[in-house]
Amino acid sequence: MKLKRLLTLSFLLVTATMFAQKLEAIRPGEVWPDEDGNHIQAHGGGIIKMGKTYYWYGEERAKGLDTNFRYVSCYSSNDLMNWKFRGDVVKMADPENLGRRWVLERPKVFYNKKTRKYVMYFHLDDRTYKLARVGIAVSDKPDGPFSYVKSFRPLDHESRDIGQFIDDDGTAYLVFEDRPFGFRIAKLSDDYMNVEKEMSLIKAHMEGGAIVHYNGLYYSIGSALTGWNPNPNKYATAPTLAGPWTEFKDIAPPETKTYGSQSTMLIKVTGKKAITIIFMGDIWKPASQWDSRYIWMPLTIGEGKLWVPEPKPWTINVKTGEWKYVADPSPKN
Ligand code: GAL
Repeated sequence: MKLKRLLTLSFLLVTATMFAQKLEAIRPGEVWPDEDGNHIQAHGGGIIKMGKTYYWYGEERAKGLDTNFRYVSCYSSNDLMNWKFRGDVVKMADPENLGRRWVLERPKVFYNKKTRKYVMYFHLDDRTYKLARVGIAVSDKPDGPFSYVKSFRPLDHESRDIGQFIDDDGTAYLVFEDRPFGFRIAKLSDDYMNVEKEMSLIKAHMEGGAIVHYNGLYYSIGSALTGWNPNPNKYATAPTLAGPWTEFKDIAPPETKTYGSQSTMLIKVTGKKAITIIFMGDIWKPASQWDSRYIWMPLTIGEGKLWVPEPKPWTINVKTGEWKYVADPSPKN
């Protein structure tokens, strides 16, 4: 009898703790705890959906990491709010003799149905950012481990910030910043191990490039070249990926500098009742990178217009695709 009561009590305690940790909202700009209570480390990230599960990959910049390695973390979620840390799926030593303070940034993972491989692209560079290449690492499982394969310049062009775009028909594209020319959108090869065909060169000097296909139009967003400092990010639209692209316009009040963030991806959530497009941006903190944060906000989008509303806590139902603001009783951190 005693044992039974004890078991019931501990069961209640465990469920209460689990329940207490469950997040009901996304709080843009605040510390975003994963299911273990640690601030999510997935900066400059990318997201794919496999079945009902979202995987979020990004730069792991936690305190105390071994500086000889570069790390990419992976988190999974079924609701886009509660994320489980799946480990550092990349822990890589300098793959190409790049020297001290070499760079692995903005990892993006694509799943290839034919080869059943998870193919990760990332920006690979030396500390002067002169190499301007993409690197590729491959895994059989979403949560790694990913093994390094090679690096190259896509279509022989410089490539710094990269973005990923998977169209509604499943075709996979890489967006990359080519400093002398602008930013390019290019189709991946069948096995995703190469960048095969240029769709567009947008002659705007922008990075943090992201694209979404919504209601018959392509929307591309990007940031100006101001390093870790935020700037007013902008968008353009086109009827096809090949263009013609409109002029770039602000996505938020310019004086807020995109609410202090920089674009990394646009996530399309197609539910039973609505489609929500989420702007996913990074608030970089160069002097305390582990504390870099995120601005995720559902967009106001349609008929050639795109706007990131003022960041406030919000919640999403991934089944219906609907989102709403929530009252936020929690203290800011
Ligand atoms: C930003 C870029 C980041 C990182 C940073 C380094 O412009 O978007 O990914 O490369 O510069 O200064």
